[in-house]
This record gives sequence, C-alpha cells and structure tokens, in this order.
Amino acid sequence: MTPSSGAASQKETDSLVSSTKHGIVVLDFGGQYTQLIARRVREQQVFSAVLPCTAKLDEIRALEPVGIILSGGPSSVYDKDAPYCDPKVLDFGVPVLGICYGMQWLAHTLGGKVSPADRREYGRASLDLTPGSKLFSGIPATLNIWNSHGDHVIDVPEGFAITGRTHNAVASVEHTGKNFYGVQFHVEVNHTERGTDILRNFIFEVCGAKQNWNRAGFISATIDSIRKQSEGCRAICALSGGVDSAVAAALVHRAIGDRLTNVFVNTGLLRRNEFEETLALLRDRLHLNVIGVDATDRFLAKLAGVTDPEKKRKIIGYEFIDIFAEEQRKLIAASKDGLPVKFLVQGTLYPDVIESVSVKGPSAVIKSHHNVGGLPDDMPFGLIEPLRDLFKDEVRQIGRELGLPEEILIKHPFPGPGLAVRILGDITREKLDTLRGADAVVVEEIRKAGLYSKVWQAFAVLLPVRSVGVMGDGRTYGNAVAIRVVESLDAMTADWSRLPMDVLERMSVRIVNEVPGVNRVVYDISSKPPSTIEWE
Ligand code: XMP
Repeated sequence: MTPSSGAASQKETDSLVSSTKHGIVVLDFGGQYTQLIARRVREQQVFSAVLPCTAKLDEIRALEPVGIILSGGPSSVYDKDAPYCDPKVLDFGVPVLGICYGMQWLAHTLGGKVSPADRREYGRASLDLTPGSKLFSGIPATLNIWNSHGDHVIDVPEGFAITGRTHNAVASVEHTGKNFYGVQFHVEVNHTERGTDILRNFIFEVCGAKQNWNRAGFISATIDSIRKQSEGCRAICALSGGVDSAVAAALVHRAIGDRLTNVFVNTGLLRRNEFEETLALLRDRLHLNVIGVDATDRFLAKLAGVTDPEKKRKIIGYEFIDIFAEEQRKLIAASKDGLPVKFLVQGTLYPDVIESVSVKGPSAVIKSHHNVGGLPDDMPFGLIEPLRDLFKDEVRQIGRELGLPEEILIKHPFPGPGLAVRILGDITREKLDTLRGADAVVVEEIRKAGLYSKVWQAFAVLLPVRSVGVMGDGRTYGNAVAIRVVESLDAMTADWSRLPMDVLERMSVRIVNEVPGVNRVVYDISSKPPSTIEWE
C-alpha cells in the first residue's frame, strides 16, 4: 500500500495504532544518523526499531520485520574490527536496504568488491539513475544527493544490477529477485533530494509495509510497558524543567499515578529565576506532585576548581544521583504501603544517547550527556527512559498529544549540567551571576524579536578570556561573552542562526551596559559538526 500524498487520513492518524511488530528493523553499524533512519520510517507511520548490528537473529525475528535496513557507519568492511552482522539475516526472506556502509557490507558479504575511493565523497553529489528500479519509482533521472564515504563498491555481487552512479562511484545497486537494495548515499538526511520518497518506495512498494504506528499508539504502548516494568513499585522522576523530563513525567504519571514522585533540583547552575518559575509551572500547570530540592551549595562545593568539561559532567551526574538516592530513602521512610522505590525516570532523548555512549552499535562517544554517560554504574535505581529512542520534535508532538501546556513544549533545550558547561573553566558564584545576566538579555531579545520558537536554542557562554576595553574614558580589563543561537531539527546537526544585525546589536549593547564585568561580546558562527551546540 502506498498512502497518497504521504499522509494517513485524519481518521487513521487519530486512531490508536501501536504495533512493535511488522515494521522495519534498522541494524546499526555505528552511523551517526542511524536513529534518523528509524525516525524517517516512523514519520511514515510504520513502526521502526534500531538494533545493534550484533543483535541475535531471534531478537530480530521476534519483531517480525517486513524489511531490514542496514545503516551507515564509520568503518571500512576491510577493517580488522569492522562491525558485522550475522549474514543469515539475508535469509529471512524480507527486503533489505543497505545505506552507505550497509550497502558496502551487503556487497562484500555477497561476494562483491569494496575498495577505498581515490577521492572521498563528502557532501553534495549529482546522481544519475538508470530507469526501471522500484526503489526510484517516480524519482527524476538526475538529482542531488548527500554522501559521506571513503570506500565504495567496485564490483557488484552476482545477480546485482547497478541502478545509479555519481561522477565518482557506484551509487545504488539492486537484486530484484532477492529484494536486496543498496544506496551509497544517505536517503535519511534532508540534503538528499527526494530522500524521503526513496525511503517510502522501499517501505511501501518494496516491503509492502502497512501503516501501524502513530503518536497515540506510542503513548498507549509506552504506558503499558511502563506499567509492566514498574508493577508494585514506586518511581522518582528527575525533572529538569524542560520539555523532555516533563513529557516523561506525564507519561509515567499516566501509567502509575501517585506511585510517581517528581524531584526538581536547584543545582545552582540554572538560569535566572528558573528554579522558582519552573517549580510553579510544574505544580500549577502540569499538576505534578513535585519536591523542590535546593542543592546549590553542594553542587558548587563539588565543582570548585574543576575545569575539565567531562569531569564537570560526571560530578554533576553523581551529585544528582546522590540527591535522588536521599529522596528515595525519605520516601521509603515515609511510605505507608511499603512499596519499594525502585526506578528513576529520566527524559533522556536519542541524541543524548548517541553522543554519550555506544549503546546500540559502535558510534563514537562525543560527550557524556549527564543523564546518560554521566551516571555512576552502581546506582540504587533501575532506569525508566520512555523517550530514549525519540528526537526532540517527536517528544514535543507526544507532549502536545498528552495535553501539556505550550509554554513547556516550546522551551529551548537546556543541558542537565546547566550553566556549568557554559562557563568555560572553573565555576564560581560570581561567574554564574555574570552569565545569568548575559543569558537573560539574549533570551529576552530573542523573544522580543519574535524568534524564540523559530530558533533551536539561544544562550550566552562565559569565556575564560579577558580583554582590554574602554568605558567612560577609562581602561577596562573585562570578561568576554559569546552569544550562541542555533537552528536545528534534532540537535544532531545545527547551523548558526543568521540573526538580524539589529537584534545582535541590542544584545551586545545591553550586555556590556547591564552586566557588570563584561566589556566584549562575540557571536559564535560555527555549525555542528564540526562544533557542538554547547561549548563543553
Ligand atoms: P551538543 O552540545 O552535544 O548538544 O551539540 C546537543 C543538545 O543536547 C543538549 N545537551 C544536553 N542535554 N543533558 C541534556 O539533557 C546534557 O548533559 C546535555 N549536554 C548537551 C544541548 O543543549 C543541545 O540541545
């Protein structure tokens, strides 16, 4: 079935559809974009799960997939430790699509030849297609695609045909008898023209998938699984004041009601007035049962003199767990029903996971997002992370479906370690005050310009730099603040925002006038990659 114009009818969308079977399984070879593939499939309302390439055949079979996608990855199939999946997945009798490394692995495994290219292909390239492939049905014969590879296929395995080429390389192959397809380029990224249509051809035309997944379905399936996971137990939710933990709390609250207690910690690393305002929002608008803990002194004492970004993240992660363990003990002591407090609920998202730990494949660690990589191994909790496979915009949609106030849903992301990763170098109360002042100006001006919900994040960073200035005819030797405003769809990639000059000017003038000790303001014009959104 190919749904017309890409969307299901309103009736279909509203109905409660949830199946974790008969979807597309994505096997992860360590690509940075693996979850993006799964999310693109879910956007077509077809269930998709990511499994490590090393998943057992039974684990894959249990999902009864109608198709398998082999992801990209940073390795070469000839590397000594190249990621490898059991070739018996190719005997399942379901269609397979290999993307980038996935195509190379497919070709290599079936007897073709892969070789390092003379010239690596990164970024945009023009693709020329041979007519007649189901995968490219309805796609123009020439289109711009996006590449990121060093190796390429030079000999296709027996029975395969080449269906597309770029100037430098074989770009797509297929074996129609077996329903095996390979694309050297990334259909999942926005930069590939008609990438979604190519993926839709695979999902619906080749695999014959049925639309079996939507937001309401996700909510009901998640609530069911939380109920099973936490039967007869209590849980504590670590609220950060942001959308992710609020949505996680709302989901768990629906699942287990009063057995959930929410804790919102003031680390002393929050933005101006954030603790009081957020506590009120969570209690009054979300009607959540929230304990507010002011732990400013503890966090700042532990962080004194620490400059290494990863150390800061770990210290904060550990301190959080200590506080939650204390709250756990208090709850147990006060409990009348004797139910154990076994779980910690967190609003962890996929981008936090993929950049922090190598969970589902061999992706490289970028930084330890505190709610994933910054936690101790010996925590006295099991984790409930209902949003772990989702991206921010998917979480916002789930939140909307759950009826959360827009005020929470449009909030910019704020990192768990807070301002600690926006003060480069060691953290002091004075620096925190300076950064809070500058940050408040940036956010106020972004709001005034009507840009708050158009940009992904807008914030200030305090640099470990002092420079000479002149104010009121006198010399100053003051701090420098960087303004960071980025646009992004999912935080996996981001571009710096081309803000109007007058907005930048207002920010700069206000910061040097209103924030004592700052005499210089710079604008960060780096995208991700190669930079990251936060500076630490
Ligand atoms: P980076 O700096 O890795 O950030 O490009 C990507 C997105 O994640 C946010 N971020 C975090 N979120 N815990 C979080 O919950 C963290 O430790 C953390 N570190 C970064 C960041 O603000 C951006 O939106």
